[in-house]
Amino acid sequence: MSHTASAPGKIILFGEHAVVYGRPALAIPVTQVHADVQVSGSSRAGIWIQAPDVNLHTELNTLPSDHPLASVIHNFLFLFRVSPFPNLEIRISSTIPVASGLGSGAAVTVALTRALSSFLSRPMADEEVNAFAYEIEKLHHGTPSGIDNTVVTYAKPVYFIKGQPIETFKVGAAFTIVIGDTGISAPTKESVGDVRKLWEADNGKWESVFDRVGKIAEEARKNIESGKWELLGELMDQNHLLLQEMTVSSPELDRLVSAARSAGALGAKLSGGGRGGNMIALVNVNLAESVAKSIREAGAQRVIITQVS
Ligand code: MEV
Repeated sequence: MSHTASAPGKIILFGEHAVVYGRPALAIPVTQVHADVQVSGSSRAGIWIQAPDVNLHTELNTLPSDHPLASVIHNFLFLFRVSPFPNLEIRISSTIPVASGLGSGAAVTVALTRALSSFLSRPMADEEVNAFAYEIEKLHHGTPSGIDNTVVTYAKPVYFIKGQPIETFKVGAAFTIVIGDTGISAPTKESVGDVRKLWEADNGKWESVFDRVGKIAEEARKNIESGKWELLGELMDQNHLLLQEMTVSSPELDRLVSAARSAGALGAKLSGGGRGGNMIALVNVNLAESVAKSIREAGAQRVIITQVS
């Protein structure tokens, strides 16, 4: 019998990058995209991985040990001292674009961990899955804050401060976000590394930029909880300016952000690591389709409309 698990994508509403330096950030799951993993027993020897989206059909031992999928499977089997290694067929598929700021790596890790845990009867609480996924994120992303694995593991809106217990937040009144993908893949590790270089060169300046981002995230949380979501637009615009200052925007992201604003969005910003990947815009629900159309015309490769409720 096979065991399956699924994990959603995510977007960061406010606070990316500054969250790496201990400031709060807000993120929500995006269930329209997801990673799905199926684990079953195999009649052939070995651990066979089929990931057609990335054209991978291979046995575990043929992968370099630092390959993201290999590191999840090896670390899982070592953590639970599974010996000898079982014969497995693992099928992985994902509709989350890779390196786009939607948390594809974290979602595959979480879904794969849960499917292995279920098939091999090694139960894991959410906190354990989250801690395990954070260790994997650290192997591949340099100095991650842990926000991606947290929102993807719990699949809930998250008010996140690095190293602190997970806090969710209430949504006083539902609001609509349009997500636009530049189609440019941009590894988070690089943008996070570049911001670190800026911070190392001028600690004082960047600490104060991160403080401003942290204040925006706090104010955004208050507005979301009290149902004053229209006020988030201005906060998104301010956050985007600070992300531009951190050098993590790009001409393509700026073009989509401007197109969204011109089409009537209340505010817009890049979301995630930046340099490519996705942007988000806050819209009145009746304008969602026309903002989506404008973003597409400005070059977005795909657009998702999502409700935060
Ligand atoms: C990536 O989704 C968010 C960043 O803040 C990196 C991190 O928090 O690990 C850019």
